[in-house]
Amino acid sequence: MKSHRLRVLLGSVVFFTGVAVSQAAAGQEHAFIVGGVEAAPGAWPWQVALIRPSLVAAGYSLYDAQFCGGSLIAREWVATAAHCVLDDNGIADPATIGAVVGAHNLETPEPGYQQLGVAAAYPHALYNGASGDNDIALLRLARPADVSGGVQTVPPLGDAAGSLEGVVATVTGWGATSEAGAGSVVLLQVEIPIISNAQCESWLDDSQGQQSWVTDNMVCAGFMNGEKDSCQGDSGGPLVVPSAGTGWSLAGIVSWGMGCARAQSPGVYTRVSRYAAWVEQIMKPPRDDSSDEDDGPFACFAASPGTKRHDADSRAVLDLVWLLVLAFATRGAATRRRLRPRARV
Ligand code: ARG
Repeated sequence: MKSHRLRVLLGSVVFFTGVAVSQAAAGQEHAFIVGGVEAAPGAWPWQVALIRPSLVAAGYSLYDAQFCGGSLIAREWVATAAHCVLDDNGIADPATIGAVVGAHNLETPEPGYQQLGVAAAYPHALYNGASGDNDIALLRLARPADVSGGVQTVPPLGDAAGSLEGVVATVTGWGATSEAGAGSVVLLQVEIPIISNAQCESWLDDSQGQQSWVTDNMVCAGFMNGEKDSCQGDSGGPLVVPSAGTGWSLAGIVSWGMGCARAQSPGVYTRVSRYAAWVEQIMKPPRDDSSDEDDGPFACFAASPGTKRHDADSRAVLDLVWLLVLAFATRGAATRRRLRPRARV
């Protein structure tokens, strides 16, 4: 508790110092994602823009409505960050989230882009808003995306993936092009090397004067001098690495950083390979939407008709435990999020 207050205090000092420094350096900011270039349209066909459907319905552009990124990992499923789908009341109403695939320019989207509804959001039950641990969520789309040239899925890295240290990864998004700057209208990409968690921890310790930032569930990418990074609005989006069979694999999810592109302050990503079993479990729940049993509001976790009674009972107990954990985690996260310095999101 005490160290948490200290962290918040230090975080605020760092943030306000950062604002002062970035204002002083305003003339020499970098151009893109931070330090990246415009992607070729369709080059990252799993890229998802998470948007507010109510804004689009009210006539705002996708650019104005976009708030996070995501990755299409199956025709019906988007991987994103837990912090993108949680609000102060817990899990955001899926009706307030839309997923756009096949877009490049969010002001004047290419014909053929698809705006899909979200049927259910599954943030990781152990997401910790203070530490950023387990910052992963899956969204089940209201209908499967049509996959064709400009829209494809990306396979998440499996649990056999090693540390990835030294691999040059690519991050994509419409997020801010400088710390506290505006988002990009077109999709941007930047190549950043993955560094070891030990290196990441030590750079953050040096630059922030703090300890224990980086958990095993995170992977960092960055240069010693900063300059290239993801930034606000890129959250939830993909960090991909080349892979032999499939071309690219999803290795990370944009999660947090201290400011953007600062020296010795790498971007921190959710380490996707740690969640292979979790992803599989969420994507294959025994759900039966047409069941006439009274499943309550949590029908998506209900046992399927063929399930043996005692399986259904133990599942009900598990669901209850899961809900309690979630209630506590999100209640805590909501309180902490208000305290958390903006520089850390
Ligand atoms: N949490 C931010 C978001 O919601 C992403 C921050 C990434 N920061 C970084 N320096 N890589 O968009």
